[in-house]
Amino acid sequence: MGTVLCGGTIVNADSVAQEDLRIAGEMIASIGKNLVQPGDQQIDVSGCFLFPGGIDPHTHFDLDVGSTTTADDFASGSLAAILGGTTTVIDYATQSRGGSLADALATWHAKAAGKSYVDFGFHLALCDCTPQALAELAAVAERDGVVSVKLYMAYKDVMQVGDADLLRVMQICRDQGMLVCLHCENGELIAALVTEAKAAGRLEPAQHAATRPEVVEAEAVARAVAIAELSGCPIYIVHVSSARALSLIRQAQQQGLPVAAETCPQYLVLDAMRYDTQGFSAAKYVMSPPLREKHNQEPLWQGLQDGAIACVGSDHCSFDFVGQKEIGRGDFSRIPNGIPGVENRFGLLYSCGVATGKISLSQFVACISTGPAKQFGLYPRKGVLAVGSDADIVVWDPGQSCLITAASQTQRVDYNAYEGIEQQGRVREVFLRGLHAVQAGRIATGPTGCYLMRKKRQQGEDTACTNSR
Ligand code: URP
Ligand code: ZN
Ligand code: ZN
Repeated sequence: MGTVLCGGTIVNADSVAQEDLRIAGEMIASIGKNLVQPGDQQIDVSGCFLFPGGIDPHTHFDLDVGSTTTADDFASGSLAAILGGTTTVIDYATQSRGGSLADALATWHAKAAGKSYVDFGFHLALCDCTPQALAELAAVAERDGVVSVKLYMAYKDVMQVGDADLLRVMQICRDQGMLVCLHCENGELIAALVTEAKAAGRLEPAQHAATRPEVVEAEAVARAVAIAELSGCPIYIVHVSSARALSLIRQAQQQGLPVAAETCPQYLVLDAMRYDTQGFSAAKYVMSPPLREKHNQEPLWQGLQDGAIACVGSDHCSFDFVGQKEIGRGDFSRIPNGIPGVENRFGLLYSCGVATGKISLSQFVACISTGPAKQFGLYPRKGVLAVGSDADIVVWDPGQSCLITAASQTQRVDYNAYEGIEQQGRVREVFLRGLHAVQAGRIATGPTGCYLMRKKRQQGEDTACTNSR
């Protein structure tokens, strides 16, 4: 017995078509007309869009940052994800200092096991490039299906990696068909600026942004591109926040260098005015890189239109305002970095992007699902509505709307950075590998998400999305 979704509009990164879609088992069995077979269930989805399930390539669930642990774990974070239209997350399994990569992965598997409502993969966040860790890289790609590694150019004395290690890791990843993800901010300059600010008694949350200006992001992007050129390794620059950083990425792409980029809803929708509030409430927006001046937003949207930016990730890294962000009262440098957003990424991109005419339906699918699937070795199993692909499907009702509020969210955190934004369009149904997981906007299953082994890159593999308007 199958399920046929009838009367909707199927949206892919390269096509928009009025077709029905039949699910059999975990996969999409057929797309077209007159698909119903004896015993099939039919669901009328007229007036709705059918999107490939969202893939969030950037989350931090159950992450210990030293002073505290993120508010969302795999259970609450993945439930929020699926209710918001995301069916796959790729979370950062973070190496402890001196720890092995195998230990980091075992720890992350234990955090996720039996708890996830969405399918999940892991990137490795490599914080300590010991000879042992470097020697393990080949094994994690082959044995564990982990084909992307994040290196931090910031967070001095904690996770920051120097240029020689950046080069070494890129050389290994190039040879292994792995992608290097980079947090591009110059940690040495930030540390110096933070010391200066504190010495001058400037301690409020707005100083977080003041000590991480655009130029420190741009410098690190330029350096990352140079090291990618030297090594010949494909790189992926996470959470690009500024027009200046993006223009360096464009230059690299125009030279033919394998440089991909990700931005996040917060940089498209929110701006640095959030730091102007009196008191400590600006701590809610302490993230790295920080929010930028509004004029950066249009160039970032342009990057999504023309494909210079391949993906939108939430960088979901949630901390309660009360008790967690408050750790940094009186010292901005102790405020845990990060904001929640896994639940809102999909809806914000539709609402602020498609509904306002900034991006097309296909460009939306490209950055929210197909781009992440192609960048991270999941395509065409995920990221496309096609025969033989996993039946990860979001039925989206563009005629509904909802108000984003902390009071109504599923994310287990006491605020929402997008509070009060009216979201146009809404998730109606979600299928995860054929299972009808969200029904009329409510969760209808348990945590059935499974771990995804991802594929290595082939030499010169084309990971770009071809968009139809
Ligand atoms: O502020 C942020 N982005 N926190 C999460 C960790 C990271 O740098 O991605
Ligand atoms: Zn980062
Ligand atoms: Zn992050």
